[in-house]
Amino acid sequence: MTDQPNAGMAEFWNGNGGKNWVSREARLEASLKPFGQQAMAAGAIEAGQRILDIGFGCGESAIELAGKVGSKGQVHGVDISVAMVEAAEKKAATKGVTNVTFECADAQTSAFAANAYDFVFSRFGVMFFDDPITAFKNIYAALKPGGRLAFICWAPRDQNAWVGLPLQVVAKHLSLPTPPGIDEPGPFSLSEESRVSGVLNAAGFADIAVKPYETAFVLGDNIDEALSFLMQLAPSGSAINNAEADEATRARIGVDMAAMLKSHDGDKGVSMGAAALLVTARKEN
Ligand SMILES: C[S@@+](CC[C@H](N)C(=O)[O-])C[C@H]1O[C@@H](n2cnc3c(N)ncnc32)[C@H](O)[C@@H]1O
Repeated sequence: MTDQPNAGMAEFWNGNGGKNWVSREARLEASLKPFGQQAMAAGAIEAGQRILDIGFGCGESAIELAGKVGSKGQVHGVDISVAMVEAAEKKAATKGVTNVTFECADAQTSAFAANAYDFVFSRFGVMFFDDPITAFKNIYAALKPGGRLAFICWAPRDQNAWVGLPLQVVAKHLSLPTPPGIDEPGPFSLSEESRVSGVLNAAGFADIAVKPYETAFVLGDNIDEALSFLMQLAPSGSAINNAEADEATRARIGVDMAAMLKSHDGDKGVSMGAAALLVTARKEN
């Protein structure tokens, strides 16, 4: 790891994190779509606008945004993971979408065009900065005066059953690592209303609003799919991987996890409660 900004997260998203995400692209897209829709709806998007998508993942949201702004509009995405950029470019080419561009860059330091975007969007892509105020100042500079920011991020971990219940299973077999602090990069770094508002305020944003959004999070169409997600990604997967659990331990966790998942298996797949925050703000005119 280097002392570059966000080196740890760059390593994760260019390593197993990115690989595991891309290999589950369709599942994650279906599960996360309702969350992203909240942030899109807050964008007051119009044809012809320029939109920036931060941490675009496999590109589905950026491609959807490109459809909303139409041929006279333009969407640009930045993501720190090479694997994500490749997946997104492939998807845009397959779909024949030409008004979207994808760049491999760190949103905290990328030299965005200044005063260029009507709307900055993100679905779970802005919680991984080691210096969020610097990152959001950089994003702020990219917005046109009067431009909007809307993103969805996770609410506190204890409001997310899909995190807590699987971790309880893991804890029966491994000692859990101390979770990252609120001021450290990770899925819950912007999960407290006062923290996220403070960061945006310090970055210069006006009209900051934070609204809870709760829904069922579909972990998989069936128990096998949900199990694979929880064993390899999600905080439970990270705990297992970081502990370098051996095969026998993983197998025992898997048996207990599958048993726990049975009571969450329903008509729409295997799902658990999830809580997110819809965060909106504006650059002053
Ligand atoms: C949880 S995933 C969400 C991906 C996508 N937006 C979605 O909802 O499917 C987080 C994404 O943020 C990207 N990311 C993390 N840190 C970043 C940074 N500093 N700059 C740009 N992208 C970053 C990761 O590579 C990853 O694609």
